[in-house]
Amino acid sequence: MEFGDKTVIVTGGAKGIGRATVLAFAREGARVAIVDLDAAAGAALAEPLGERGRFVRADVTRADEVERAVAGVVAAFGGIDVLHNNAGIQHYGTAIETTEDEWDRVLAVNLKSMFLMSKFAIPEMIKRGGGAIVNTASVQSYYNQRRVCPYAASKAGILGLTRSLAIDFAKDNIRVTAVCPGSVDTPMLHYAAETLVGGDADDVIRGWGEKVLLGRVGRPEEIAETVLFLASPRASYITGSAHLADGGLLSGF
Ligand SMILES: NC(=O)c1ccc[n+]([C@@H]2O[C@H](COP(=O)([O-])OP(=O)(O)OC[C@H]3O[C@@H](n4cnc5c(N)ncnc54)[C@H](O)[C@@H]3O)[C@@H](O)[C@H]2O)c1
Repeated sequence: MEFGDKTVIVTGGAKGIGRATVLAFAREGARVAIVDLDAAAGAALAEPLGERGRFVRADVTRADEVERAVAGVVAAFGGIDVLHNNAGIQHYGTAIETTEDEWDRVLAVNLKSMFLMSKFAIPEMIKRGGGAIVNTASVQSYYNQRRVCPYAASKAGILGLTRSLAIDFAKDNIRVTAVCPGSVDTPMLHYAAETLVGGDADDVIRGWGEKVLLGRVGRPEEIAETVLFLASPRASYITGSAHLADGGLLSGF
């Protein structure tokens, strides 16, 4: 069990990629804290994990809630070794169509949350002698759809934040990396299919998958395996970098 003596926090852990990561860390023996807004889904996921699982309801855009969440995890589990900054939301609109509030919300959930979680979790990792942070970015950190103005900005920003954290805390034995998924079959992708195309979301998603080198969209579990690798000692010489898990999407058609 690769994470048998570790405590892990997963933000946005109640659904989609975060949920799969929670289950993968739990499979590998970790104590896992699920930090999410969705209390019903988060509590249902934590319940079968027993004493090794904990749901913490928090809005990761708010410093007070993040500070309280981190303190609660430390009180329950004794410290923090791994942070998967993963909570995110999508929004469609050009700069003209996007309101200031929409811009602020997307940047807050997708980017500011990673700053806040790191700000409060890193001192706990330092007390443990080190740790690992994996930030969920996106293929859209590099190339974009149309009408994803704040989302694209947030996902590009995550790569800068990842480098900055890696540089500042390498001396503390903390590695910081980013995973960049392509299209992955989650509630967010269904929202995208319904919003952008309409009709049967499964058909739309199947069509998107056919444009990927591997012929299909990803499964949340496949992103989770990438996250576990990056967080594990097997990735001991990797920090500051971003890692595509996109089925070859950015390699071409
Ligand atoms: N699904 C994809 O195709 C895809 C592709 C590239 C990147 N990503 C990124 O992966 C991450 C996870 O995406 P997903 O597809 O699993 O999304 P999802 O919508 O299925 O799940 C996101 C989770 O984040 C939680 N959340 C949202 N706002 C929050 C907040 N303020 N505080 C706490 N929790 C909050 C939601 O409740 C939900 O449980 C996101 O950062 C997303 O941008 C997804």
